[in-house]
Amino acid sequence: MMAFMSSFLCYASEVPAPQNIFAREHKSLNGDWNYIIDVQEEGYYDYRMNPMRHGFFMNAKPKKPSDLVEYDFDASPTMKIPCDWNTAVPSLMFYEGTVWFHRSFDYTPVSDHRTLLYFGAVNYEAIVYVNGEKAGEHRGGFTPFCFDVTKSLRPGKNNVILKVDNKRHANNVPTQIFDWWNYGGITRDVLLVDEPDTYIEDYAVRLVKKHIIRFDVKLNKPVKGEKVTFHIPSLGIHKTLTTDKDGRSIAGVHRSSKDLLLWSPSHPSLHEVDIEYSGKTIKDRIGFRTIETRGKEILLNGEPIFLKGICIHEEKLNGGGRANGVSDARRLLRMAKELGCNFVRLAHYPHNEFMVREAEHMGILVWSEIPVYWTIAWDNPDTYKNAECQLSDMILRDHNRASVIIWSIANETPHSDSRDRFLSSLARKARCLDDSRLISMAMEVTSASNYVNRLQDNMNKYVDIVSFNQYVGWYRDVNDAPKMKWEIPYDKPVIVSEFGGGAKYGKHGDKGERWTEEFQENLYRENLTMLEKIDGLAGTSPWILKDFRSPRRVLTGIQDYYNMKGLYSDNGERKMAADVLREWYSKR
Ligand code: GCU
Repeated sequence: MMAFMSSFLCYASEVPAPQNIFAREHKSLNGDWNYIIDVQEEGYYDYRMNPMRHGFFMNAKPKKPSDLVEYDFDASPTMKIPCDWNTAVPSLMFYEGTVWFHRSFDYTPVSDHRTLLYFGAVNYEAIVYVNGEKAGEHRGGFTPFCFDVTKSLRPGKNNVILKVDNKRHANNVPTQIFDWWNYGGITRDVLLVDEPDTYIEDYAVRLVKKHIIRFDVKLNKPVKGEKVTFHIPSLGIHKTLTTDKDGRSIAGVHRSSKDLLLWSPSHPSLHEVDIEYSGKTIKDRIGFRTIETRGKEILLNGEPIFLKGICIHEEKLNGGGRANGVSDARRLLRMAKELGCNFVRLAHYPHNEFMVREAEHMGILVWSEIPVYWTIAWDNPDTYKNAECQLSDMILRDHNRASVIIWSIANETPHSDSRDRFLSSLARKARCLDDSRLISMAMEVTSASNYVNRLQDNMNKYVDIVSFNQYVGWYRDVNDAPKMKWEIPYDKPVIVSEFGGGAKYGKHGDKGERWTEEFQENLYRENLTMLEKIDGLAGTSPWILKDFRSPRRVLTGIQDYYNMKGLYSDNGERKMAADVLREWYSKR
């Protein structure tokens, strides 16, 4: 049962981001936004102590020559949003703190319509004001959020002001320790969305049991008797649903799978789907496919498939910072295709929507993950709520995307009872929100003896696929690889969700010399031979497509704040190990 998330909202002021947001009537607020770097958060705290001070959200202007206003957005520099401030302003590369953003815009109200203010993502905490009124706040740097700002807007000139704070905290998700760059800012699109008072908030169109197309719809209000029509021209389907007292409706239409042109990596067929309600039509393109497991096999459309993957961070090439557009997605996914991949693990947080949609067009299967990473504050209820919000927002945004087959709830989390409680709740929530996809997480193996690695994780009963990361050859001698044994006592498919090692592109030498391409190449050869001995191996996603920025990688002259485990350099240069992986995939 596809549950709808509107009953579960992170923050009171939010409204669920409407499904398929770019297909809605909207005005982009991307472009030049003024910014003020506010290291001591003067623009937020001082105004309470001293009425003479003005919170930056008030966009105050001196009314008479003697007035004291010590900020002026209109005179401040600008950043081209969406972007991360670290790469947009060189002096902010290492900055962690508050930056204020301001943008003015013209607005013409439409009677009986609502206007929603949508953010694709802001890292990490956003407090949003429209014309000086607080619209709401949001925490979590990688999922969309939305406010109904209808009442705060006025005809003509308006302004939106954000306080964005990317400081790390132990109770955050992720915590204050993670192996990627803490890119701060308004990192994805900003839209003003125009909707009638009652509109389609969410819908789902998917294939169930190979021969039933199921339609789900949810209005933004509990209105009974409303007619919503799903139209799939290529299948001659024209199905009208009538909402119940909760504004919801579900229906199913039989179709034999031979008519459907099922979606798959080799045939990423998408069907136009028009969803009509009260004179408006939302257009989407849906891929019909099934994903399930049978013992140690993963079945796509009922047939076993081996997931030939690679991990990817959401980062442009050439030091460009956060990836956020279609061209970024196409470039990264084409590099994955060059390796012979049919699968990508989007590490370690939900990537922008373009990655998931381009993967759908290119026939690439997707593992999508929330940043429950390493040592999370397992006993903190706010931390759990934040993680569950990010999970719900990820699923709400992408549950119509055929490319997404796996929801991942964690990466390398140390065993404990509180961790098991936290993660098993997340797994149940994911299953409740979407029972049509597989659940997994990147576990850790424990070494039973010097050469025997055993996967023992209480979370095994909550996931469909048991996945784990291992670094033989990098954090352990590569010559141990031929002797390694892997004990995985679960009748479930296995994905090795990370393995790999570092190399500096263009550095050559003996295969025993760390950081040479030969070292990495040999590590890949040894690991891929070792993986072939793992019973139930259904896929792998080596770490990682390209070198990426990390504050933890400080070896001068080699790392220089980059994690060098990429098969490509940050400039897209291909290292020798890439050919080893491509060769191995070509034989699977
Ligand atoms: C870990 C972790 C990655 C990290 C990698 C590494 O497995 O999941 O986020 O970058 O190891 O050490 O490079």
